[in-house]
Amino acid sequence: MGVRCSCSLFPFYSFFKFLKGTNDMREQLEQMRQQALSAIAAATTEEMLNEVRVRYLGRKGELTGLMKGLGTLPADERPKVGQLVNTVKDEVEAQIEQTMNRAREEATAKRLATERIDVTLPGRGRRQGSKHPITLVIEEVSEIFAGLGFSVAEGPEIEHDWYNFEALNFPPEHPARDMQDTFFVENQMLLRTHTSPVQIRTMLKQKPPVRIIAPGTVYRCDSDATHSPMFHQIEGLMVDTQVSFADLKGILTTFTNQLFGQKTGVRLRPSFFPFTEPSAEVDIACVICGGTGCRVCKQTGWLEILGAGMVDPEVFRHVGYDPETIAGFAFGMGIERIAMLKYGISDMRLLFENDIRFLKQF
Ligand code: DAH
Repeated sequence: MGVRCSCSLFPFYSFFKFLKGTNDMREQLEQMRQQALSAIAAATTEEMLNEVRVRYLGRKGELTGLMKGLGTLPADERPKVGQLVNTVKDEVEAQIEQTMNRAREEATAKRLATERIDVTLPGRGRRQGSKHPITLVIEEVSEIFAGLGFSVAEGPEIEHDWYNFEALNFPPEHPARDMQDTFFVENQMLLRTHTSPVQIRTMLKQKPPVRIIAPGTVYRCDSDATHSPMFHQIEGLMVDTQVSFADLKGILTTFTNQLFGQKTGVRLRPSFFPFTEPSAEVDIACVICGGTGCRVCKQTGWLEILGAGMVDPEVFRHVGYDPETIAGFAFGMGIERIAMLKYGISDMRLLFENDIRFLKQF
């Protein structure tokens, strides 16, 4: 960058030459002017230019200092020399300003070039979501039972003791209540411990025949790798004039075969539930080892997946059905357990952590 200055101090030379002090000052001024202009020319950034400004024009700057020294000159020379110093100050100031503007423009141009945004770049694609394994199992089970003539029923998660226990033949002090680790709310209200109260609500609302399944959330005060305080069940109920234990076995075998594959073995073991008599637990041949014995089936070759039984006459009496003329079976299953077996998930907690890397595999 060249020094651009139209101002020459030469014409003032003759004017000052007869005065020694004035002469010294003129030389000093011209020197300062040259130095300032070359410092400006050498400056490449705003900061450097600001330094030059402070050095020459600041309160303690060199040109300012010269102005202060005017007092040593004879009184009649002071205005002329003062004017001269001001001319140099103006020139330096203007030069700094001009160079500063250019430096700013260059800095902006450089930034614009490096930070350029390509507005034509396509946006980031949206990833397609996937259904939660619990939802997938509910949908698949509902579909299988829809094919067998069952419709879907629902009930509240905050339930009255009567629907959750009493009407299902758990008398107030019955020890079977203890197994259900209930969360009590208040005034006989509780978080339902199973989906079985939906049986009661359905039968109170409609006359036989009944064929329903009731998927939903249930709660128990229990938590470890295979138990969660909030989990899901699907309840089933079929009531008609001529329903037998053979129908129960036939429907549940059809169901397990469709859900786990045609050749899955099924067995029923005697069990107890207050609301069914007789009661059974339904096992399927281990889906991991095929029945030969492994860690998942604890070397038994079988996996328990359902509770079931013939509806107890006492339950029918509670809902105003006549146990002499009608019969029915009920069943209930845990959805998490089915999801874990179906998809090979080893820890139930994975189903509730909502880690997207886990969920997107389904
Ligand atoms: N309600 C039972 C439970 O949560 C599951 C169950 C077993 C439901 C047998 C039924 C049934 O309808 O017949 O443990």
